[in-house]
Amino acid sequence: MYGEEDVEEVLLSAEEVQRGVVSLGQRISADYAGKEVTLICILKGAVMFTADLMRQLTVPTRLDFIAISSYGAGTKSSGVVKILKDLDEPIEGKDVLVVEDIVDTGLTLKYLIESLQARKPASLRCCVFLDKPARREVEIEPDYVGYTIPDRFVVGYGLDYAGRYRNLPFVGVLRSEVYADE
Ligand code: PRP
Repeated sequence: MYGEEDVEEVLLSAEEVQRGVVSLGQRISADYAGKEVTLICILKGAVMFTADLMRQLTVPTRLDFIAISSYGAGTKSSGVVKILKDLDEPIEGKDVLVVEDIVDTGLTLKYLIESLQARKPASLRCCVFLDKPARREVEIEPDYVGYTIPDRFVVGYGLDYAGRYRNLPFVGVLRSEVYADE
């Protein structure tokens, strides 16, 4: 079976993860004071982060989901972005905050921001829990970043490898033997 024994190094402990979320929640609550914020959770990786972040917000919130895929089952970005599930509600005139677990090449977020901007929200910002700037292929600066991390293959707190490890409460580096054969 698989689990935390496949992690060679913990980058962010469960406590650090939660501290980062609290800090982001405070900043976002202050910035959106007096407004309602519509959170858009990018499935599936951002589920844990969105659920935790939302509970830290003191402003009124709405929640919607979108599923976009830019990766196959492996660790490398294919650059192919497609919408697998669209939002349920229109976002025109809304203050929208896109919530993402990680920005890597930036392809997913750039595509999504451009496509959402065309729907005429009142404002559109993005909040990413992890930023891996070393891998960036397109120019994109997230408005809110939890932690900037080095170019390692990380899993946990929503991040997966081949659909696994999302449930780990910390962010860790996956042992290379786990994905070496693929
Ligand atoms: C991951 C992650 C981001 C994207 C970031 O999603 O959740 O959406 O890749 O990579 P990029 O900056 O190189 O585009 P993935 O396609 O693995 O789907 P998941 O969220 O369902 O795990």
